[in-house]
Amino acid sequence: MDANGLRRAFTSFFADRGHAVAPSAPLIPHHPRAPLFTNAGMNQFLPYFLGEEVPPHARVTSVQKCVRIRGKHDDIENVGRTSRHHTFFEMLGNWSFGDYFKEGAIALAWELVTEDLGLEPDRLWVTVYETDDEAAAIWRDRIGVPAERIQRAGVDNFWEMGDTGPCGPCSELFYDRGMGPGPGPVRDDGERYVEFWNLVFMQYDRQPDGTLLDLPKRNVDTGAGLERLLSVLQGVESNWDTDLFRPLIAEAEAATGHDYGADPEVDVGLRILADHARSMTFLVNDGVFPTNEDRGYVLRRLIRRAVRQAYQLGVENPITPRLVQATIDLMAEAYPDLRVNQSFIEGVVAREEERFRSTLRSGLSMLEEELSAGAKIISGPVAFRLHDTHGFPVELTREIAAERHVEVDEAGFAAAMERQRELSKEGGKKEAGEQGPLRETYRDLIEEFGPTDFVGYRENESTARVLAVLPVAGANDSELRHVEIFLDRTPFYAEGGGQIGDTGTIRTATGMANVLDTTAAVPGLHRHLAVVLEGVISAGQVATAAIDVDRRDAIRRNHTGTHLLHWALREVLGPHVKQAGSLVAPDRLRFDFSHYGPMTSEELERVEDLANERILADEPVDAVSVPRAEADRMGAIAFFGEKYGDVVRVIRAGNRSTELCGGTHVAALGQIGPLKITSEGSIGANLRRIFATTGTATLDRLRHDEQVIGRAAELLRAQPDELATAIERRLAELRSAQDELKAMRQAAVRDQARQLAGAASADGGAVVARRDGMDQKQLQELATNVRAEPGVRVVVLGGSPAAGKAALVAAVAKGTDLVASDLIADAARIVGGGGGRNPDLAAAGGNDPGRLDEALASVRAKLGLES
Ligand code: GLY
Repeated sequence: MDANGLRRAFTSFFADRGHAVAPSAPLIPHHPRAPLFTNAGMNQFLPYFLGEEVPPHARVTSVQKCVRIRGKHDDIENVGRTSRHHTFFEMLGNWSFGDYFKEGAIALAWELVTEDLGLEPDRLWVTVYETDDEAAAIWRDRIGVPAERIQRAGVDNFWEMGDTGPCGPCSELFYDRGMGPGPGPVRDDGERYVEFWNLVFMQYDRQPDGTLLDLPKRNVDTGAGLERLLSVLQGVESNWDTDLFRPLIAEAEAATGHDYGADPEVDVGLRILADHARSMTFLVNDGVFPTNEDRGYVLRRLIRRAVRQAYQLGVENPITPRLVQATIDLMAEAYPDLRVNQSFIEGVVAREEERFRSTLRSGLSMLEEELSAGAKIISGPVAFRLHDTHGFPVELTREIAAERHVEVDEAGFAAAMERQRELSKEGGKKEAGEQGPLRETYRDLIEEFGPTDFVGYRENESTARVLAVLPVAGANDSELRHVEIFLDRTPFYAEGGGQIGDTGTIRTATGMANVLDTTAAVPGLHRHLAVVLEGVISAGQVATAAIDVDRRDAIRRNHTGTHLLHWALREVLGPHVKQAGSLVAPDRLRFDFSHYGPMTSEELERVEDLANERILADEPVDAVSVPRAEADRMGAIAFFGEKYGDVVRVIRAGNRSTELCGGTHVAALGQIGPLKITSEGSIGANLRRIFATTGTATLDRLRHDEQVIGRAAELLRAQPDELATAIERRLAELRSAQDELKAMRQAAVRDQARQLAGAASADGGAVVARRDGMDQKQLQELATNVRAEPGVRVVVLGGSPAAGKAALVAAVAKGTDLVASDLIADAARIVGGGGGRNPDLAAAGGNDPGRLDEALASVRAKLGLES
């Protein structure tokens, strides 16, 4: 049975027993609690184990690609030295989410291996967790495994995904390759007993503090190593001898010129090449690319480790692309996407190999010098220099040193790294305020893939590859779906030269994101700021990137419109007009320029007319890329302050306007539609700003103005054309009505004054009265009117103009010895306030109108009047 046969046999066995067949998940897991790389078949089912989601099937089976480098399960150091460790492997598994448990899992596993796969029961051993009597009893009593072939173990029989997360006791199946009686797998740590299947009884969730919480349900999670099971089925000594590895080792033999089996140390190297070939191929296929951070660093280490092995084996030429090719030839039947991505993967590893080869020799000789000088330890600064200047991952330095029984000063290396991180953080802050590591990632992306291929001059929708998906800087957990997506090619224009970034969608086979804006993360690298609305989008996927075409068309109209406006302004105002900034958005354009004074309405009209004449002439717009000198000869205007390269893009917008520009434009001037200036004003000394609209925005504005005018005409009951006359007529009517009102009010005050004055003669020319509802000013007006009546010496009026307010006014006629302010001083205190000091006409206010009568009585008393 070959590998393809075994994958099929395994999944169909379980499919026949009610299991849904799940495809392999990517190597980059998405669950927040998942490890760095998918390290087991169960990773993709985390939400089901943790009770976060209801599984669509209670029984599932799969063949899962796994990587075990870094984290709890890290096999890299053993690779090549044992018969069964790999950085990349495939795990066959079956799962029960709250369905069958120990008995079901054990019975299914036994049936498959002894019946369908035909392994001799006498060669099978099992282990159980030290306290798991239940599992031991099932093996012994239900399955019939002799008690002496059931062994118990501690930590080895307690499987955990990582330092935290789902875990549980497990039971493992072993195949005995030996002859005669043996000690069993727990007592033999050699290669006689092959552990090929692990049945985990997943019951707990390990917390960060180490405690175990019960999972909502009791589950089964099994993992059978495809390579190990295959070695048993094919009756070979080790995984390396199976059909999954022999062709890769053969490729390594061909590339190095060494024969496998001749020298144990060379064999280790050949096996490492075969192993790393698979992991690098699959990692790049799933969107990891070599960088100095996280997953990218692991890949970088892997590729460089392989390159160094090859170098040691005498290989001078690039080896990784041919290793990738051999891997794909071998695996594409099971993983067809490898074939689709083949040239991409080969390119990524080839570039990384090339980079490393350029410093490998110098790094190795530096290290060799240290080692042959008898260094007992590789110092931190040396390890750092190897890393920083020669591209040696410290793990590689450590391995090479260990071959000579020398160690690396890890603390010294860590300190040197920390110092560099601090420095680059400071540098990063100074540069653009981006976070240091993020900026580094952007640089890595550019270095790895070159600048983004902007295809938006020709295409609105493109097929592209997702290079990376990064969380938006500073996004918190609830915004995890806010991401920055990087593509190898894109129709999305990144904000620049005044033109705002495009919006639209990015879709892959597994997800859809809305692009909210596009900017340059670093020059040349288009960053799509997006929110993932459906599923997931992962690096490595093929994507369809589509811009919002209507919005972009509106932007095009405004951009070419801006060029025409620039030209027309120079025609009308003179060549001193220089663009000082612009904003090209879908709904309008803004153009800032140098000019010494406000534009007259005639100048504005002339500019509009010139621009619209060109638009109606409908001349073509074209773009040419030419050397800078050629652009100057063409008379192209450059936007002051903008940086341009040696080769520049010149936009000829019709026969008159020629400008350097990287933006997107219409194909012919007629597409701009009507251009209308909506405002012109100053933004500083000799700097003016114009807002204008084009296309449908001009029409929208026209409609809006029409509506405003229509409503005004309706209110005035006039035709729109007669609006001005109607307004003039209404204003005249208003003025005469206001005059009439004023006269009437004055007459009313005089009437009241006469009435109040009528009573004065009885009081010796004094009037003290209350009038509510009049404010201070009205009270004063009334008081002075009363004072003007014959025989009146003094007037004091009080009243409450509004709730909580009291007002007092005193007016004294000329020739009396009374002082107005004195008259109401006490009264003002009574109503809780104070007032003016004027002797002829005094006003006071307070906030206790309830005591107004009392206050007025005090005035009467002061004047010697009867109350
Ligand atoms: N999750 C089971 C195993 O990896 O062995």
